Amino acid sequence: MSTVELRSDTFTKPTAGMLEAMMSAEVGDDMIGEDPTVNKLEARVADMLGKEAAVYACSGTQSNQMGVWANCERGDELLIDSTGHIANYESGAPAILSGVSCRQFQGEFGRLDVHHLENQIRRDDIHYAPTKLLCLENTTNLGGGRSYSLEQLERVCGWAHENHLRTHLDGARIFNACVSAGYDVADVARHFDSISICFSKGLGCPMGSILVGSKETIQKARRARKLMGGALRQAGIIAASALYALDHHVERLAEDHANAKRLAAGLSEISTVEIDLKAVETNLVFFNIDPSWGTAVDVEQRVAEKGVKLYSVGGTHKLRVCTHLNVTTEQIDQAIKVFQECLV
Ligand SMILES: Cc1ncc(COP(=O)(O)O)c(C=O)c1O
Repeated sequence: MSTVELRSDTFTKPTAGMLEAMMSAEVGDDMIGEDPTVNKLEARVADMLGKEAAVYACSGTQSNQMGVWANCERGDELLIDSTGHIANYESGAPAILSGVSCRQFQGEFGRLDVHHLENQIRRDDIHYAPTKLLCLENTTNLGGGRSYSLEQLERVCGWAHENHLRTHLDGARIFNACVSAGYDVADVARHFDSISICFSKGLGCPMGSILVGSKETIQKARRARKLMGGALRQAGIIAASALYALDHHVERLAEDHANAKRLAAGLSEISTVEIDLKAVETNLVFFNIDPSWGTAVDVEQRVAEKGVKLYSVGGTHKLRVCTHLNVTTEQIDQAIKVFQECLV
Protein backbone atom coordinates (compact mmCIF):
# COMPACT_ATOMS: atom_id res chain seq x y z
CA MET A 1 0.00 0.00 0.00
CA SER A 2 1.25 3.51 -0.80
CA THR A 3 2.17 5.98 1.92
CA VAL A 4 -0.44 8.68 2.39
CA GLU A 5 1.47 11.91 3.02
CA LEU A 6 -0.86 14.16 5.01
CA ARG A 7 1.75 16.11 7.02
CA SER A 8 1.86 19.17 4.80
CA ASP A 9 1.36 20.54 1.31
CA THR A 10 5.09 21.33 1.45
CA PHE A 11 5.73 17.65 0.67
CA THR A 12 4.48 17.94 -2.91
CA LYS A 13 6.89 16.95 -5.66
CA PRO A 14 7.12 18.61 -9.08
CA THR A 15 4.96 16.97 -11.74
CA ALA A 16 6.34 15.82 -15.11
CA GLY A 17 4.89 18.91 -16.83
CA MET A 18 6.44 21.19 -14.22
CA LEU A 19 9.86 19.55 -14.60
CA GLU A 20 9.66 19.99 -18.36
CA ALA A 21 8.88 23.70 -17.96
CA MET A 22 11.86 24.02 -15.59
CA MET A 23 14.21 22.22 -17.99
CA SER A 24 13.40 24.57 -20.83
CA ALA A 25 13.47 27.81 -18.81
CA GLU A 26 15.42 30.72 -20.20
CA VAL A 27 17.79 31.96 -17.49
CA GLY A 28 20.17 34.81 -16.63
CA ASP A 29 21.69 36.43 -13.55
CA ASP A 30 18.75 37.35 -11.36
CA MET A 31 20.84 39.23 -8.79
CA ILE A 32 21.32 41.94 -11.36
CA GLY A 33 17.78 41.61 -12.72
CA GLU A 34 18.70 39.68 -15.89
CA ASP A 35 16.84 36.40 -15.48
CA PRO A 36 14.00 36.62 -18.03
CA THR A 37 11.92 33.89 -16.38
CA VAL A 38 12.13 35.47 -12.92
CA ASN A 39 11.30 38.85 -14.48
CA LYS A 40 8.31 37.33 -16.26
CA LEU A 41 7.06 35.74 -13.02
CA GLU A 42 7.48 38.96 -11.03
CA ALA A 43 5.67 41.02 -13.67
CA ARG A 44 2.86 38.46 -13.99
CA VAL A 45 2.19 38.20 -10.25
CA ALA A 46 2.38 41.98 -9.73
CA ASP A 47 -0.17 42.36 -12.53
CA MET A 48 -2.45 39.61 -11.14
CA LEU A 49 -2.50 41.37 -7.79
CA GLY A 50 -2.92 44.87 -9.23
CA LYS A 51 0.38 46.05 -7.71
CA GLU A 52 3.40 47.84 -9.17
CA ALA A 53 6.14 45.32 -8.43
CA ALA A 54 7.15 41.93 -7.06
CA VAL A 55 10.33 40.22 -5.93
CA TYR A 56 10.94 36.47 -6.02
CA ALA A 57 12.27 34.84 -2.83
CA CYS A 58 13.57 31.48 -1.63
CA SER A 59 10.90 30.72 0.98
CA GLY A 60 7.78 32.02 2.66
CA THR A 61 9.78 32.85 5.75
CA GLN A 62 12.12 34.95 3.65
CA SER A 63 9.40 36.83 1.76
CA ASN A 64 7.49 37.49 5.01
CA GLN A 65 10.63 38.84 6.65
CA MET A 66 11.43 40.96 3.61
CA GLY A 67 7.91 42.36 4.09
CA VAL A 68 8.50 43.11 7.77
CA TRP A 69 11.81 44.78 6.88
CA ALA A 70 10.30 46.88 4.09
CA ASN A 71 7.33 48.12 6.16
CA CYS A 72 9.08 48.89 9.46
CA GLU A 73 12.04 50.67 11.05
CA ARG A 74 14.21 49.15 13.78
CA GLY A 75 12.44 49.42 17.15
CA ASP A 76 8.90 49.31 15.71
CA GLU A 77 6.32 46.73 16.68
CA LEU A 78 3.87 44.74 14.57
CA LEU A 79 0.42 43.43 15.52
CA ILE A 80 -0.47 39.82 14.73
CA ASP A 81 -2.80 37.00 15.73
CA SER A 82 -1.38 34.68 18.43
CA THR A 83 -1.22 31.79 15.93
CA GLY A 84 0.57 33.87 13.26
CA HIS A 85 3.45 32.23 11.40
CA ILE A 86 5.55 35.40 11.31
CA ALA A 87 5.57 35.66 15.12
CA ASN A 88 5.74 31.98 16.05
CA TYR A 89 7.43 29.89 13.39
CA GLU A 90 10.11 32.05 11.81
CA SER A 91 12.86 31.67 14.44
CA GLY A 92 12.16 35.06 16.01
CA ALA A 93 13.22 36.68 12.73
CA PRO A 94 11.34 40.00 13.11
CA ALA A 95 13.47 40.77 16.19
CA ILE A 96 16.71 39.41 14.78
CA LEU A 97 16.59 40.69 11.22
CA SER A 98 14.50 43.87 11.42
CA GLY A 99 14.65 44.80 15.14
CA VAL A 100 10.83 44.58 15.25
CA SER A 101 8.81 43.17 18.16
CA CYS A 102 5.56 41.23 17.71
CA ARG A 103 2.47 41.97 19.82
CA GLN A 104 0.04 39.08 19.66
CA PHE A 105 -3.76 39.09 19.94
CA GLN A 106 -6.16 36.22 20.19
CA GLY A 107 -8.42 36.41 17.16
CA GLU A 108 -10.95 33.92 15.83
CA PHE A 109 -9.50 30.95 13.94
CA GLY A 110 -6.34 32.98 13.43
CA ARG A 111 -8.28 35.94 12.00
CA LEU A 112 -8.15 39.42 13.50
CA ASP A 113 -10.91 42.01 13.38
CA VAL A 114 -11.19 45.63 14.51
CA HIS A 115 -12.63 44.71 17.90
CA HIS A 116 -9.47 42.73 18.73
CA LEU A 117 -7.22 45.66 17.88
CA GLU A 118 -9.11 48.84 18.77
CA ASN A 119 -7.27 51.07 21.27
CA GLN A 120 -4.17 48.89 20.99
CA ILE A 121 -2.05 51.29 18.97
CA ARG A 122 0.58 52.73 21.29
CA ARG A 123 0.56 56.51 21.63
CA ASP A 124 3.70 58.46 20.83
CA ASP A 125 5.62 58.08 24.09
CA ILE A 126 9.27 57.25 24.73
CA HIS A 127 8.21 54.22 26.78
CA TYR A 128 6.64 52.45 23.83
CA ALA A 129 7.74 50.77 20.64
CA PRO A 130 5.97 52.60 17.78
CA THR A 131 3.14 50.46 16.39
CA LYS A 132 3.81 50.26 12.65
CA LEU A 133 2.46 47.17 10.94
CA LEU A 134 -0.55 44.84 10.98
CA CYS A 135 0.19 41.30 9.76
CA LEU A 136 -2.67 39.00 8.73
CA GLU A 137 -2.64 35.43 7.40
CA ASN A 138 -5.01 34.14 4.67
CA THR A 139 -5.67 31.27 4.81
CA THR A 140 -4.74 30.88 8.43
CA ASN A 141 -2.51 27.90 9.15
CA LEU A 142 -2.70 27.11 12.87
CA GLY A 143 -5.96 29.05 12.88
CA GLY A 144 -7.47 26.15 10.92
CA GLY A 145 -7.10 26.81 7.19
CA ARG A 146 -9.78 29.53 7.38
CA SER A 147 -10.21 32.40 4.91
CA TYR A 148 -11.04 36.02 5.56
CA SER A 149 -14.14 37.48 3.95
CA LEU A 150 -13.51 40.55 1.79
CA GLU A 151 -15.74 42.54 4.17
CA GLN A 152 -13.54 41.67 7.14
CA LEU A 153 -10.37 42.53 5.22
CA GLU A 154 -11.83 45.88 4.18
CA ARG A 155 -12.85 46.61 7.78
CA VAL A 156 -9.65 45.60 9.55
CA CYS A 157 -7.19 46.89 6.95
CA GLY A 158 -9.27 50.08 6.58
CA TRP A 159 -8.96 50.58 10.34
CA ALA A 160 -5.19 49.96 10.14
CA HIS A 161 -4.67 52.48 7.36
CA GLU A 162 -6.88 55.09 9.04
CA ASN A 163 -4.57 54.71 12.03
CA HIS A 164 -1.43 55.09 9.91
CA LEU A 165 -0.40 51.44 10.17
CA ARG A 166 0.92 49.55 7.21
CA THR A 167 -0.52 46.13 6.34
CA HIS A 168 1.21 42.89 5.34
CA LEU A 169 -0.49 39.68 4.26
CA ASP A 170 1.11 36.29 4.83
CA GLY A 171 -0.62 34.74 1.84
CA ALA A 172 1.35 31.49 1.92
CA ARG A 173 -1.94 29.80 0.93
CA ILE A 174 -3.75 32.77 -0.62
CA PHE A 175 -4.97 30.77 -3.63
CA ASN A 176 -6.62 28.24 -1.29
CA ALA A 177 -8.54 31.20 0.13
CA CYS A 178 -9.42 32.55 -3.33
CA VAL A 179 -10.67 29.18 -4.61
CA SER A 180 -12.61 28.45 -1.43
CA ALA A 181 -14.14 31.89 -0.88
CA GLY A 182 -14.61 32.58 -4.61
CA TYR A 183 -12.84 35.92 -4.71
CA ASP A 184 -10.14 37.33 -6.94
CA VAL A 185 -6.61 37.63 -5.55
CA ALA A 186 -6.51 41.32 -6.58
CA ASP A 187 -9.56 42.02 -4.38
CA VAL A 188 -7.59 40.71 -1.42
CA ALA A 189 -4.32 42.40 -2.39
CA ARG A 190 -5.79 45.89 -2.61
CA HIS A 191 -6.08 45.99 1.19
CA PHE A 192 -2.37 45.34 1.76
CA ASP A 193 0.90 47.22 1.36
CA SER A 194 2.74 43.94 0.88
CA ILE A 195 1.64 40.38 0.16
CA SER A 196 3.76 37.24 0.43
CA ILE A 197 2.70 34.18 -1.58
CA CYS A 198 4.23 30.68 -1.47
CA PHE A 199 4.62 28.51 -4.55
CA SER A 200 5.98 25.54 -2.60
CA LYS A 201 2.77 24.68 -0.74
CA GLY A 202 -0.54 23.93 -2.47
CA LEU A 203 0.83 25.04 -5.83
CA GLY A 204 3.32 22.17 -5.81
CA CYS A 205 6.64 23.88 -6.65
CA PRO A 206 9.91 22.58 -5.21
CA MET A 207 10.65 26.00 -3.66
CA GLY A 208 9.99 29.71 -4.02
CA SER A 209 7.80 32.54 -2.77
CA ILE A 210 7.12 36.08 -3.90
CA LEU A 211 6.56 39.45 -2.25
CA VAL A 212 4.28 41.95 -4.01
CA GLY A 213 3.67 45.66 -3.37
CA SER A 214 4.48 49.19 -4.53
CA LYS A 215 7.76 49.92 -6.38
CA GLU A 216 9.16 51.61 -3.29
CA THR A 217 8.24 48.76 -0.92
CA ILE A 218 9.62 46.12 -3.27
CA GLN A 219 12.86 48.04 -3.79
CA LYS A 220 13.41 47.99 -0.02
CA ALA A 221 12.49 44.28 0.08
CA ARG A 222 14.94 43.55 -2.73
CA ARG A 223 17.75 45.02 -0.63
CA ALA A 224 16.56 42.93 2.33
CA ARG A 225 16.59 39.80 0.18
CA LYS A 226 20.21 40.46 -0.73
CA LEU A 227 21.31 41.04 2.85
CA MET A 228 19.41 37.94 3.99
CA GLY A 229 21.43 35.93 1.47
CA GLY A 230 18.43 35.22 -0.72
CA ALA A 231 19.40 36.95 -3.97
CA LEU A 232 20.01 34.14 -6.46
CA ARG A 233 21.60 33.79 -9.87
CA GLN A 234 19.91 31.54 -12.49
CA ALA A 235 16.72 31.29 -10.43
CA GLY A 236 14.63 31.06 -13.61
CA ILE A 237 14.89 27.28 -13.38
CA ILE A 238 12.77 27.45 -10.23
CA ALA A 239 10.66 30.45 -11.28
CA ALA A 240 9.54 28.40 -14.30
CA SER A 241 7.87 25.98 -11.88
CA ALA A 242 5.89 28.87 -10.41
CA LEU A 243 4.73 30.07 -13.83
CA TYR A 244 3.67 26.50 -14.62
CA ALA A 245 1.84 26.22 -11.29
CA LEU A 246 -0.10 29.45 -11.89
CA ASP A 247 -1.34 27.97 -15.18
CA HIS A 248 -2.08 24.44 -13.97
CA HIS A 249 -2.36 24.16 -10.19
CA VAL A 250 -4.62 26.97 -8.96
CA GLU A 251 -8.13 25.84 -9.95
CA ARG A 252 -7.37 22.26 -8.92
CA LEU A 253 -7.02 23.37 -5.26
CA ALA A 254 -10.79 22.76 -5.12
CA GLU A 255 -9.99 19.02 -5.32
CA ASP A 256 -7.79 19.31 -2.22
CA HIS A 257 -10.59 21.10 -0.39
CA ALA A 258 -13.09 18.38 -1.36
CA ASN A 259 -10.63 15.71 -0.18
CA ALA A 260 -10.17 17.57 3.12
CA LYS A 261 -13.96 17.60 3.67
CA ARG A 262 -14.16 13.90 2.78
CA LEU A 263 -11.41 13.05 5.25
CA ALA A 264 -13.00 15.23 7.95
CA ALA A 265 -16.36 13.50 7.45
CA GLY A 266 -14.65 10.09 7.82
CA LEU A 267 -12.86 11.20 10.98
CA SER A 268 -16.09 12.56 12.47
CA GLU A 269 -17.52 9.03 12.52
CA ILE A 270 -14.81 7.77 14.86
CA SER A 271 -15.94 8.00 18.48
CA THR A 272 -12.49 8.96 19.87
CA VAL A 273 -12.17 11.88 17.46
CA GLU A 274 -13.44 15.38 18.15
CA ILE A 275 -13.78 17.49 15.02
CA ASP A 276 -15.78 20.53 13.93
CA LEU A 277 -16.84 19.83 10.35
CA LYS A 278 -18.01 23.41 9.83
CA ALA A 279 -14.46 24.60 10.48
CA VAL A 280 -13.05 22.72 7.48
CA GLU A 281 -12.89 25.26 4.66
CA THR A 282 -9.75 24.53 2.68
CA ASN A 283 -6.98 21.90 2.71
CA LEU A 284 -6.16 21.90 6.44
CA VAL A 285 -8.09 19.71 8.86
CA PHE A 286 -7.59 19.89 12.63
CA PHE A 287 -8.97 17.40 15.14
CA ASN A 288 -8.48 16.29 18.74
CA ILE A 289 -8.01 12.76 20.04
CA ASP A 290 -9.86 11.75 23.18
CA PRO A 291 -7.29 11.71 26.03
CA SER A 292 -8.63 8.31 27.14
CA TRP A 293 -7.28 6.90 23.84
CA GLY A 294 -3.84 8.49 24.13
CA THR A 295 -1.92 11.55 22.98
CA ALA A 296 -1.53 13.18 19.59
CA VAL A 297 2.00 11.79 19.37
CA ASP A 298 0.58 8.28 19.98
CA VAL A 299 -1.81 8.82 17.04
CA GLU A 300 1.02 10.05 14.85
CA GLN A 301 3.08 6.93 15.60
CA ARG A 302 0.23 4.41 15.37
CA VAL A 303 -1.07 5.53 11.98
CA ALA A 304 2.46 5.97 10.59
CA GLU A 305 2.96 2.22 11.12
CA LYS A 306 0.10 1.77 8.63
CA GLY A 307 1.46 4.25 6.10
CA VAL A 308 -0.46 7.41 7.03
CA LYS A 309 1.61 10.43 7.97
CA LEU A 310 0.24 13.45 9.83
CA TYR A 311 1.42 16.03 12.36
CA SER A 312 0.59 16.46 16.02
CA VAL A 313 0.39 20.20 16.71
CA GLY A 314 0.13 22.79 19.47
CA GLY A 315 -0.79 20.80 22.58
CA THR A 316 -1.04 17.19 23.61
CA HIS A 317 -4.19 16.07 21.80
CA LYS A 318 -4.41 18.16 18.64
CA LEU A 319 -3.52 16.90 15.16
CA ARG A 320 -3.44 18.32 11.66
CA VAL A 321 -3.89 16.66 8.32
CA CYS A 322 -3.26 18.47 5.07
CA THR A 323 -4.47 17.52 1.59
CA HIS A 324 -2.59 18.47 -1.56
CA LEU A 325 -1.58 17.74 -5.13
CA ASN A 326 0.04 14.39 -4.30
CA VAL A 327 -2.91 12.93 -2.36
CA THR A 328 -5.66 11.21 -4.34
CA THR A 329 -9.26 10.60 -3.25
CA GLU A 330 -8.45 6.86 -3.11
CA GLN A 331 -5.66 7.63 -0.65
CA ILE A 332 -8.08 9.68 1.44
CA ASP A 333 -10.33 6.62 1.67
CA GLN A 334 -7.28 4.49 2.54
CA ALA A 335 -6.39 6.97 5.32
CA ILE A 336 -9.96 6.96 6.70
CA LYS A 337 -9.77 3.15 6.96
CA VAL A 338 -6.47 3.36 8.82
CA PHE A 339 -7.88 5.96 11.24
CA GLN A 340 -10.94 3.75 11.80
CA GLU A 341 -8.77 0.70 12.52
CA CYS A 342 -6.27 2.51 14.75
CA LEU A 343 -8.33 4.95 16.79
CA VAL A 344 -10.96 2.59 18.27
C1 LIG B 1 1.13 30.53 6.88
C2 LIG B 1 2.57 30.28 6.56
N1 LIG B 1 3.37 31.33 6.33
C3 LIG B 1 4.66 31.19 6.02
C4 LIG B 1 5.23 29.93 5.94
C5 LIG B 1 6.71 29.83 5.66
O1 LIG B 1 7.02 29.23 4.48
P1 LIG B 1 8.45 28.50 4.28
O2 LIG B 1 8.34 27.19 4.98
O3 LIG B 1 8.57 28.42 2.79
O4 LIG B 1 9.49 29.37 4.87
C6 LIG B 1 4.44 28.79 6.17
C7 LIG B 1 5.04 27.45 6.10
O5 LIG B 1 4.45 26.44 6.39
C8 LIG B 1 3.07 28.98 6.49
O6 LIG B 1 2.26 27.94 6.73
